[in-house]
Amino acid sequence: MTSDQNTIPQAVMRLRELALSSACAAAVRAAARLGLPDALGDQPSTVEDLASALGADADALGRLMRMLECYYVFEKTDTGYVHTPMSRLLREDNPRSLKYIVLWGTEPWTWELWPHLDESVRSGDEAFQKLHGTDFFAHLHDEWPDSAAVFDKAMTQSSKLSAAAIADRLDLTGVRSLADIAGGQGHVLATLLEKNPGLQGVLVDLPAVVADADPRLRAGGPLASRAQLVAGDCLAEIPVDAEVYLFKNILEWDDASTITALGNAARAARAGSRVLIIENLVDGSPELKFTTAMDLLLLLNVGGRKHTRDGLVALIEEAGLHVDDVRPINSYLHLIEASVPQESP
Ligand SMILES: C[S@@+](CC[C@H](N)C(=O)[O-])C[C@H]1O[C@@H](n2cnc3c(N)ncnc32)[C@H](O)[C@@H]1O
Repeated sequence: MTSDQNTIPQAVMRLRELALSSACAAAVRAAARLGLPDALGDQPSTVEDLASALGADADALGRLMRMLECYYVFEKTDTGYVHTPMSRLLREDNPRSLKYIVLWGTEPWTWELWPHLDESVRSGDEAFQKLHGTDFFAHLHDEWPDSAAVFDKAMTQSSKLSAAAIADRLDLTGVRSLADIAGGQGHVLATLLEKNPGLQGVLVDLPAVVADADPRLRAGGPLASRAQLVAGDCLAEIPVDAEVYLFKNILEWDDASTITALGNAARAARAGSRVLIIENLVDGSPELKFTTAMDLLLLLNVGGRKHTRDGLVALIEEAGLHVDDVRPINSYLHLIEASVPQESP
């Protein structure tokens, strides 16, 4: 292969882009915080019009949009900027909006943690406690309530992407009670209750999260008579008697906590109860760049990980559960069906 001295080799170009890739995260965060995707309607808009709608500096806004356009977030036409599928996903009013997922992935605390990645890789330990002296979720709720609210909304937006598929794929025929452990604001639980009219549901999560649960589950909501909201710490105890225990995207902290949480479910459950675990597996993911990056962020903030299939199965068995089946829910989530053996630990 001949190389033209005037062209930048792909490897050089990609590596330089990678070195500045925090600018990409900063740019989508800035667009979301400015309300830029919401300000652009269905007709093309000039940078000047958008700047005046947002109260922004037109020159600086044009530079931000020029960069975002490089990543297919907005497109420039002869008559102004228009939306792309990605910029539409940043709109607050999009039912499948990812706005809060973008904000959560770029919260200020993430920028403090990333420079400690080499230390965490050397030690194998998380970085958050060393920096802040407390554990991630306690600090999030005690010190950064705004960030906690962004996190809860991000989890709900994330669950909206998969709740229908989960409700379709989970066979809950004949099941009378299901507890969603660390179920966030309860979007998945509400979807399961809507799909299964004979089901009673329990949402367990930290007090501030449960207090802001999905309105369908709260007093006065259409599902309230079949829903119970329990504020609690699933690492201390799971004070719920249910036929099915669901853990979705929570067993991603350190392995000891994963075993503790599953063990607490096994202790609360009757023999034969089902324990359903839904996770993005790092070896079954069509979006490896996202999952492997999240895996590293979990290392930094909670000493956790995105699991391989075998790694997660081994932890479930170590917690004393019997693994019955592993199967995909959709293109990026897997369901691990487990059960509490007759002799629970
Ligand atoms: C990654 S989110 C997943 C939420 C939800 N299961 C979903 O998939 O959308 C993790 C959840 O665990 C909750 N959580 C963290 N520590 C907890 C604990 N010790 N006990 C109960 N819930 C906890 C958080 O508040 C948060 O809602």
